[in-house]
Amino acid sequence: MQTLKIALQKSGRLSEMSLELVGEAGITLTNGKRTLLAQSSTFPLEVLYLRDDDIPQYVFDKVADAGIIGEDVLRESQYPLEIVHRLGFSKCRLSIAVPKEQNYSGLSWLNGKRIATSFPNILNAFLAENGIKAEIHFLNGSVEIAPAIGLADCIFDIVSSGSTLVSNGLVETEVVMKSEAVLVAAPGLPNEKRSVLDDFLFRIKSVLVARDTKYILLNAPNEKLDEICRVLPGMKSPTVMPLALEGWSSVHSVLSENEFWSIINQLKAAGAQGILVIPIEKMIL
Ligand code: PRP
Ligand code: ZN
Repeated sequence: MQTLKIALQKSGRLSEMSLELVGEAGITLTNGKRTLLAQSSTFPLEVLYLRDDDIPQYVFDKVADAGIIGEDVLRESQYPLEIVHRLGFSKCRLSIAVPKEQNYSGLSWLNGKRIATSFPNILNAFLAENGIKAEIHFLNGSVEIAPAIGLADCIFDIVSSGSTLVSNGLVETEVVMKSEAVLVAAPGLPNEKRSVLDDFLFRIKSVLVARDTKYILLNAPNEKLDEICRVLPGMKSPTVMPLALEGWSSVHSVLSENEFWSIINQLKAAGAQGILVIPIEKMIL
């Protein structure tokens, strides 16, 4: 069997979460992140730890077969890689932010301004699309301090919690793109590699779906079962089992995280008791 080489971020934003995902998919890696390369004894996978900015090029040049990176980094790199799957973590946005004392009046305010950023290509495309003529100042890091030290009038940078902006007296004025971690693949991956990638993807999807889903158990008086089963979606339909106590049943089902609170309230209102909610480790759809 061929080994799939996957590039992961060595340190930073996506690094921990990417490794966690690989681990939860049952893929154990030999050595720590100190080395450039790690192998797995449980799956035909080799991990290359790289700087995130370098990953698109390594994948494009087929040094790695696949990679996990932020969509922002992918887009900025301009390499035409295939997004195999969106991974739903490391969510952030790329936004324009201006010093809070400025009277930002809309996009035209940006005309003639100096904008500091580590993402010049994305910014350039956005400005061109909107017919704005501004000066782009490329900075590799610490973009948020550029206005305070007089290097720029505003910034274009990653915003996640927003706390970096707040502590630097900046206000987010335009969200240019939303980003999350994505699994990318090299163009024209040979079939043998593709099938390992498919296996990898299958495992990852099972983990991601499970993360988003909870197992729910509850007790209900039999006369309330219809109403309760109508509220609960379940994979096919809920499991209903009689309790030892006459006239009562136990109902089992699964729920997605985002419908969770509204459904719990409906269940309580319908007469459900002893509701238990349990995390799911893997889910095969
Ligand atoms: C990004 C960005 C901000 C910060 C925003 O930096 O440049 O500094 O995150 O996050 P917040 O909205 O949660 O405060 P990152 O952590 O990626 O490090 P870097 O700037 O050194 O690349
Ligand atoms: Zn930063």
